[in-house]
Amino acid sequence: MTMKNIPEHVAIIMDGNGRWAKNRNKPRFYGHKEGMKRVKEIVEASKEFGIKVLTLFAFSTENWERPKEEISFLMSLLKEYIKKEVKELKKNNIKLNFIGDLSKFPDDIKNLLNNSMEITSNCSDLMLNIALNYGGRADILQAVKRIVAEKIDEEKINEQLFSNFLYTKGIKDPDLLIRTSGEYRISNFLLWQIAYTELYITDTLWPDFDKNEFKKALEDFSKRERRFGKISEQINN
Ligand code: FPP
Repeated sequence: MTMKNIPEHVAIIMDGNGRWAKNRNKPRFYGHKEGMKRVKEIVEASKEFGIKVLTLFAFSTENWERPKEEISFLMSLLKEYIKKEVKELKKNNIKLNFIGDLSKFPDDIKNLLNNSMEITSNCSDLMLNIALNYGGRADILQAVKRIVAEKIDEEKINEQLFSNFLYTKGIKDPDLLIRTSGEYRISNFLLWQIAYTELYITDTLWPDFDKNEFKKALEDFSKRERRFGKISEQINN
């Protein structure tokens, strides 16, 4: 399938699992389970559409405030996803990468995350970043701390250098950020990285965000004119 003007990097705030379940009089975990199926579907579609980088917000620095049972359910889903999918990802030439402060996770999860990154490290069709214990402000702060610790000369500190201290080091900024479930906010996702990113917000809840909904977002993106602060004529020349 060919589409024109495909974004190289798509980031997604997957929101609405809880509401999707509530609409069906089911417990929240039921929504997360269905949400995981969409993760698989959207990863496969990304590769098919020719997207190079997909970054998913799976667990924020604030999500630790949720009830203990929900946190442990999300952790078990994450383990299940990795255990089930890592072979398939490798087979499909998809590189798995985790961004965020992983030190807070228990050893079994940390080992699983590190092993799965190692197994898929040479894959190159698509890079799948899963943000875990990630916060945009925390990302910026850890970069500042490391720059200070490394005693880098003030004159050398520019946007390029700063970007290379973020968790997304070496990864192009997102071209498109999708948020599901109709909330018009960024929720502390990639704050620095989305300076010129196109935003697409849909009322569709994450468990309903299938390949066809994804296609609609990409079609909408393909019609946008990205000026990066310049004027239209400069872009078209
Ligand atoms: C937002 O819905 C979703 C999350 C906080 C977790 C995202 C997790 C998944 C999609 C499944 C597992 C993912 C991986 C990568 C294995 P919400 O709970 O905030 O929904 P609500 O706003 O309707 O309450």
